[in-house]
Amino acid sequence: MSTLLKLKKINLQYKTGKENISVLKNIDLNIQKKETVSVVGESGSGKTSLIMLIGGLEIPTSGKIFFQDQEITNLKEDEISEIRKKNIGIIFQSFYLIPNYTAVENVALTLELNNFKNPEKEAKHLLDRFGLKNRFNNLPSQLSGGEQQRVAIARAIAMKPELILADEPTGNLDTENSIMIVNILFKYVKEEGSSLIMVTHDPKLADKAKRKIKIKDGKIK
Ligand SMILES: Nc1ncnc2c1ncn2[C@@H]1O[C@H](COP(=O)(O)OP(=O)(O)OP(=O)(O)O)[C@@H](O)[C@H]1O
Ligand SMILES: [Mg+2]
Repeated sequence: MSTLLKLKKINLQYKTGKENISVLKNIDLNIQKKETVSVVGESGSGKTSLIMLIGGLEIPTSGKIFFQDQEITNLKEDEISEIRKKNIGIIFQSFYLIPNYTAVENVALTLELNNFKNPEKEAKHLLDRFGLKNRFNNLPSQLSGGEQQRVAIARAIAMKPELILADEPTGNLDTENSIMIVNILFKYVKEEGSSLIMVTHDPKLADKAKRKIKIKDGKIK
């Protein structure tokens, strides 16, 4: 198996006022292609921070991150964002859909911005795959929480990213919807051969991943 992502001696400190707080300490982590990993840990342990670092949305205080053997920690912001757009799909707990765009339009926009042919057709195909065939023209306000998250997932994976990052993707959903969403994610990842890093509080959902990582006191256990 080949390595997709490598974190080397990553430290992350946040500065608040005069204080420096050390959130992640000396983290070494390798993620293989097609690997599924869940991240657990107490509230405030640094799970979201880890996702932000991997997605290039946060810069480590020290250490290096390599994506497909390319170091991303020394790149300019627009260069990182270019890599992210092409290769990394991010799903958050809040869905962040565009409120005045329909389900199809929300997904199609990402494809359009990346010069995809037939963005609407591809968006419909993806939504259909996630069981939303009869919801194409609904606005987010006209969708249930579970449906909104399925649209958000379709949008995040529209570019067929090598790596999917999901930060508490079911945090706003009930048990039934949570299981459905996670099943959809894992099915997709398996079919497309992408890698997945998923943060979750739920031990049952965490068990779906091949590898489980626990963050405690800023370190991986
Ligand atoms: N931008 C920031 N500036 C200062 N401190 C921050 C910032 N972002 C996060 N923190 C602090 O870093 C620590 C880790 O935060 P993080 O959001 O990564 O935790 P988490 O494990 O995702 O928690 P939760 O399970 O509650 O989502 C927390 O103590 C938080 O207060
Ligand atoms: Mg978090």
